[in-house]
Amino acid sequence: MKKILVLNGPNLNLLGTREPEQYGRTTLADVEAMCREAGERLGYEVECFQSNWEGALLDKIQEYGRLYKEGKALGCVFNAGAFTHTSVALHDCIKGVDGLPVIECHVSNVHAREEFRHKSWISPVAAGIVIGFGVQGYLVALDALVRTRAT
Ligand code: DQA
Repeated sequence: MKKILVLNGPNLNLLGTREPEQYGRTTLADVEAMCREAGERLGYEVECFQSNWEGALLDKIQEYGRLYKEGKALGCVFNAGAFTHTSVALHDCIKGVDGLPVIECHVSNVHAREEFRHKSWISPVAAGIVIGFGVQGYLVALDALVRTRAT
C-alpha cells in the first residue's frame, strides 16, 4: 500500500486549544485520526508527523522524496504553520526533492488575516493549495491528492 504523509509544522500540536476562534476545537490527534481513516478508505497508508523544528520537517520531506522516487509514496499534505511565511529552506527542499507532490494546507484563510500571512514560500512549489476550510481542509487536500495523482 502506497503511503501519504500528513505533515504539520510549528504550533499545530496545539490545535484544539490554541486560538480556537481561528483554528477551531479539534485536536491534532483528532485530525490525524480523521486523515488515517480517510486514507484507508482511499486505499493509502497515511503517516502523520508534526514538529516544531524546521530541520525535522526538512528531513521528513526528503525521506518522502526518496519514497516517491521508489514508487512507495503518493505525496504529502503539508501545513507548514508560520514557517510558510518565512522558510526558504522548506521551499528549496520541496523543489529539491523534485517530484513529490505537496499540497499546501491551512486551517484558516491566511489571506483574510494579517498581511505577513499573505506571503507563502510553499505555494510556488506546491502541487495545489487548500486554504480556509478549517480542519476539513486536510481531508479535501488528501482527496485532491488521490484524485489528481493516483496511478
Ligand atoms: C496556519 C496559518 C499560519 O499563518 C499560522 O502561522 C499557523 C497556522 C493555518 O493552518 O491556518 O500556524 O498554517
